[in-house]
Amino acid sequence: MKILALMSSFRKKGNTAHIVQLIEQQMGEIAARHDEPLDFETLHLAHMDIELCRGCRTCFDRGEATCPLKDDIPAIRAKIDAADGLILASPVYVDDVNAVAKNWIDRMAYVCHRPTFGGKCAYLIATVGEGPTNHTLRTMNFALRSWGFHIVGRAGFKMGALMSQSEAAQHFRDEAGDAAETLFQAIAQQQYLRPSFISLMIFRVQQHAWRKVSPDSYDYAYWKAQGWFKPDCTFYIEHRANPMKVSLARLVGAALAPFVT
Ligand SMILES: Cc1cc2nc3c(=O)[nH]c(=O)nc-3n(C[C@H](O)[C@H](O)[C@H](O)COP(=O)(O)O)c2cc1C
Repeated sequence: MKILALMSSFRKKGNTAHIVQLIEQQMGEIAARHDEPLDFETLHLAHMDIELCRGCRTCFDRGEATCPLKDDIPAIRAKIDAADGLILASPVYVDDVNAVAKNWIDRMAYVCHRPTFGGKCAYLIATVGEGPTNHTLRTMNFALRSWGFHIVGRAGFKMGALMSQSEAAQHFRDEAGDAAETLFQAIAQQQYLRPSFISLMIFRVQQHAWRKVSPDSYDYAYWKAQGWFKPDCTFYIEHRANPMKVSLARLVGAALAPFVT
């Protein structure tokens, strides 16, 4: 099993890094108990070369390969493609993800147009001083879900300004263990084959939106090539969601689509 953790704090030994390490340790133990080889890699986004999006829209209009910025984005993308599961972990800055995480999300915005992560599980982590984490986790959830990820869980950790690794382990070992177990089981049991109501609905809304754009556009060609415009296509990948749930999600998606696209 291959897990990629994208950690957006500048502090390599900060709170967010401590939580990711706790998850890594416990996922290692869970994988060993199941005789499953585990490859867990953490990328420190703040220490990578990720330039600010210039807003030129080239990725939308002519494909991501034409982005004029030559930096680490394609390499990070390749690592996500190779992983079974993603952990996105950010500290809360002024009630949201930090700028490093947001910039990475912005640079990946083309995936909202051409969602390519169907079949991959993701777990969302936010660490915070004292305040809430729900808005931060919502930012991550909105992006990753519209990119096709199966979001298996999310957790916020109140950690003050800076906790030591041992304090973090003492306070948060169990919560980190739950996150590790949830992500491990979701991948092992292929839970992504049973997309949620919301994910099925989002697919329906996206289908409506991209069907309306010019047939000459890059996005339209992509959706057509995937077979996602076919009347019987209900998700990015073949799935085993309950047919009643699928029908209802598609009805609600069709009703909402004209208002949100
Ligand atoms: C610029 C900045 C903004 C922050 N904003 C908030 C905030 O809005 N609410 C809060 O409770 N903590 C806030 N914090 C505290 C961090 O969220 C918290 O200490 C986090 O766990 C730090 O993670 P790190 O050590 O991985 O960087 C902020 C910290 C910084 C440096």
